[in-house]
Formats: sequence, structure tokens, C-alpha cells
Amino acid sequence: MLPQDTDLPGPETALRKVIIDTDPGVDDALALLFAMRSPELKIEAITAVAGNVPLDLTVSNALRMVEIAGRTDIPVAAGARAPLRRRLVTATSHGMNGLGGIEFPAPEIKPVDEPAADAIERIVSRSPGEVSIIAVGPLTNVATALQAYPWLAKQIREIVLMGGSLSGGNMTPAAEFNIYVDPEGASVVFRSGVRVTMVGLDVTRKCILTDNHVREIEAGSDALSHAAARIARNDLERWRQTGQTGSPGRAMHDPLAVATFIDRGVVRLREYFVAVETQGALTAGETVGYSEVPLRQSAPLKDLSTLSEAASATFVPITRVAVEVDPARFFKMFIARLAGRA
Ligand code: BDR
Ligand code: CA
Repeated sequence: MLPQDTDLPGPETALRKVIIDTDPGVDDALALLFAMRSPELKIEAITAVAGNVPLDLTVSNALRMVEIAGRTDIPVAAGARAPLRRRLVTATSHGMNGLGGIEFPAPEIKPVDEPAADAIERIVSRSPGEVSIIAVGPLTNVATALQAYPWLAKQIREIVLMGGSLSGGNMTPAAEFNIYVDPEGASVVFRSGVRVTMVGLDVTRKCILTDNHVREIEAGSDALSHAAARIARNDLERWRQTGQTGSPGRAMHDPLAVATFIDRGVVRLREYFVAVETQGALTAGETVGYSEVPLRQSAPLKDLSTLSEAASATFVPITRVAVEVDPARFFKMFIARLAGRA
């Protein structure tokens, strides 16, 4: 197990109530299937947000995953069509339908008749302090809920999110995709006071899906394993054909956030103050982490009278950032569950 810098909860044994906010998305779809196979989780709802593909597709992909997993007891709620203040930028690597072009039948079930932010409020308020959020898409839905219902910040148990990076972006040199898409939404979440664990590119980039992993999933015999194997095999082939730069396969960004929620020993966490850059034309969406060097505003312009000051005089650790990962430990759990072996 990786040593921890901070006093963090270890794996908990009771069933943990969770809402999964997501924009499926290839790795989101695998994360959902993984989560629905995880006996530690009581998934109260899946809330869909626009991100990798537009909202109508993320909703229908979430519904498809729920049906495939035989978990139609889990409500799916549709959320934001666009980020808080920006036009939606979608991703290219998930294909036009969000699942890399793999077609599953249209879902028979429908989303619930309640917007995602309202569903989050209702579910959290029903069990204050007990419900966590795993957020693996742009943070628009979570931010909308926190803005509309400010008391939620004290009632959400914690937020484990895939997003951000302290070591450079994947969308721009500065920004990771989920934060790039909605920096203002992300800023609301990071400033909310909710305990946030950031599972960013610093660790997810070290968890690459390989041919061996896919073969193991292909050995699984039920519908969930078959669907996961189809998505994963197709993605691996597409990744090779399109010659995506720098990596032999897709990083399992979103599944790592789910795994971190289930088992903190998968990563090593370190406390930071994380602020989201929302202004920079080249840097919006950057997550700026501060633990030792003070976080300062940029040097003042000559024609303005304001002084450059530390944004925060004393260090306030508000975010736990995953800074190291044990990929073998992650893949052991992730692949075994997708393959139906655990
Ligand atoms: C994140 O961006 C999306 O494309 C993935 O689903 C993941 O949530 C990685 O930067
Ligand atoms: Ca995602």
C-alpha cells in the first residue's frame, strides 16, 4: 500500500451511498459498469452532464449501461446541456456517439423526470452527511446544485472527482478536459468547502488499458463483461489506428476515480489548496495547487494601483490530490470486476 501523507479514511466496510455524475464517454462507460459491479457502493443515482458528447448522448449512454448491468433500479437524471458560462466543447477521442462508435440497442428505460441538480439535492438532503459524489465529467451539474442549494455543501459527505492536473493538461498545456470544459463550474466545487479528492492526470495517465487487460475482460461470460469487452477492444483498436500521441492506449481516468473512492490505498493523497484558473486565455481550466510556494495573483500592471498579494495568507488545505498511484492494485480490482471474477 502507498504511504499516505494525510490522515485519511481507509477502505470503509459499510455500504456507501453515492451519486455518480458522468458524461459517457468510453472511460465513463467502463467506470459505470465497474461501479455497478462494486458491492461497496449503493448507487443512489447517475446524473448525466454534457461533456465528451452532448447531453442527449450522455444520458442515453448512461441508460444503456444501467440496462446492460441489469441495474434499472438506479435512476438516471439528465443535467446541464452546457457549462455554466461557456459554450460546450466536446471531446474527439470518444467518437460521435461517445462509445467509440460501438452501437448498443437504444435504451428502453427513460431518465427520471427531475433535473440532475434537483436529484442531487433531494438525495443528499434525505441522508445528510451520508451521500458522496463521484464526479467524472465537467462539474456543471455539481456546481449547479451547490449554487441552487447552498446548504448542500455541509451535507455532501465528500466529492471524489476525476479532473485537473498539477503536471500539465491534456486539452491545453495547462488544462485537463473536465476542468477545461467548465472552469467556472469547477471553481464553484473547489471553493465549496466540501471535502474534495482530486484524481487528476498526475495519476490517471499512469493507468493505461492494455491488450492483456482487454483479453481478461473478454474471458468474462455475462452481459456486463461482454459490453465492457466490446467497448474496451474497440477503443484499443481505434487508439492504435488513429495513432493517439504519447500513450499506447487510453488512460482509465474515470475508473480510477471510482477505485479511489472504494479503496484509498490505490493512490497516495497529499493536501493542497487548489484554485481553478478561469481568466487566462491560454490557461483557463488549469488547477493550480499550492502547498509550499504561496499562491499569488500575477504581478500588478503599471496602470493599475492594486498590489500583488498572496491570494491566501495562510495555507488552507482544501483538496486532497492524488499524487501517486499503484496501477497494479487498481487494475486488479477494475479488471476482475469487469470480467465478473470478483
Ligand atoms: C477526462 O476527460 C474525458 O474525456 C474522460 O472521460 C475523463 O473524464 C480525462 O481528461
Ligand atoms: Ca468523463
